[in-house]
Amino acid sequence: MEKSRAQWGSKIGFILAAAGSAVGLGNIWKFPGRAYEGGGGSFLIIYLLIVILLGIPLMLTELSIGRASEADIVSAFHKLGHRRCAWIGWVGITGAFIITCYYNHVGGWVLRYVFGYILEAPTIYSDSTGYFYAMLGLQPDGTTAFPWAAILFAAVFMTLNAVIIIRGVESGVEKFNKIGMPALFVLLLILLVRAVTLPGSEAGLRYMLSCDWEKVSFSTVLAALGQAFYSLSIGMAIMITYGSYLSKKENIARSTVTICAMDTLVAFLAGFIIVPAVFATVGQEQVGKGGGFAFVSLANVFEQMPGGRFFGIIFYLLLLFAALTSCISLIESIVSFLTERFLLQRKAATIGVCMLMFLIGCMYTCSQAAYPIKGIWFDAANGVTYPAFCDAMEYLTDRLMIPICALGCCIFAGWIWKPESAIAEIRQNRVRFGLAPLYRVLVKYLAPLAILTILIMSFATGMTLS
Ligand code: PFF
Repeated sequence: MEKSRAQWGSKIGFILAAAGSAVGLGNIWKFPGRAYEGGGGSFLIIYLLIVILLGIPLMLTELSIGRASEADIVSAFHKLGHRRCAWIGWVGITGAFIITCYYNHVGGWVLRYVFGYILEAPTIYSDSTGYFYAMLGLQPDGTTAFPWAAILFAAVFMTLNAVIIIRGVESGVEKFNKIGMPALFVLLLILLVRAVTLPGSEAGLRYMLSCDWEKVSFSTVLAALGQAFYSLSIGMAIMITYGSYLSKKENIARSTVTICAMDTLVAFLAGFIIVPAVFATVGQEQVGKGGGFAFVSLANVFEQMPGGRFFGIIFYLLLLFAALTSCISLIESIVSFLTERFLLQRKAATIGVCMLMFLIGCMYTCSQAAYPIKGIWFDAANGVTYPAFCDAMEYLTDRLMIPICALGCCIFAGWIWKPESAIAEIRQNRVRFGLAPLYRVLVKYLAPLAILTILIMSFATGMTLS
């Protein structure tokens, strides 16, 4: 293995790093809004089915491609299949690049909130929506300004990432994960109890437990698909990179199920905290107004709980570390790709790529509220549209690049490298894998067909609407 690549010191080190990559802002910042838009319970059912039928086999596939090839994202497809398959790796790495551009900015917002709760919790409580938008440059009187606060904190967050990546991720991040992940989980349970006992939260709870199939369209299913893959960190070939650092002794089938279960549990917990909390506090009409409400509505929960400020600080600190471990996995795979492929120095590659991603991310933050920067989108139903730049970035990654890279991985493993090779890799070190026949069917037929159908139908019926 290359010296520049991280290597898992232990079995638990790998599981924690992969879970650390999976559990992140996607679970807490994105999932609840998506679940609301998708009709609550109906979205949860669709999401769960996608995780079981597509997410688990895909993560398993990516890990086995990585471990079998012991190569970077693009070379892996080369090495195991054919030069023509390298595009799958390119889509993955480009997707990871675009996601990092905005992920580090949202990480910066979280950092801002850590300081916000330490220094001025009463100000946040008094107008949580105003506080959030002021950070993004929209003043209470409706005028706009450059979003200095958000940009500054994003710069700090990105610098933190770069320093950790340059120094090497193993010791610090792995150690932190061991404490941080269980702590985040316990804190979510406490918040769950608080949220569902807030007066007025029953309506939200009922909403999340009942199915509103009228809100479900192909675009909803595509949103659930993109969200599930994003949340599990698949469809960006990250798990190929992580798999390439793995020892042959690891039982990747069992690890995959553990990682997927942890990730889904955290997402569902966040959904059952935030949606009822929003119903109980700022009101149903606020749900789904961008990811911002995850910041906004939680303020009301903290305000109303004993020791709320303390829990607020701890919560945002843990969220910060969850974001950090995910962002590190994204940058690590981009940097290790650049160093191996183009023989760049690790430090120079990290600094260069982080600066570039941070700058592109500034447009993401600026287009949230301060400036009308537009992106471009096209689908058959709506033709050419010009959504806000920040939305266009997320559509591009979640709804297009991730599903396409995932589709490529399925076609590769199902038809080119062949499921038998993946199964042989999973069975290394005499690991039992009784579900091999099911895996074969899923990766060869069901997963590619499902992803392709959802993609085509969403394109035909409108990809940007729920
Ligand atoms: N899975 C992370 C989250 O849910 O926040 C985000 C992410 C990390 C996406 C790494 C993709 C990735 F490769």
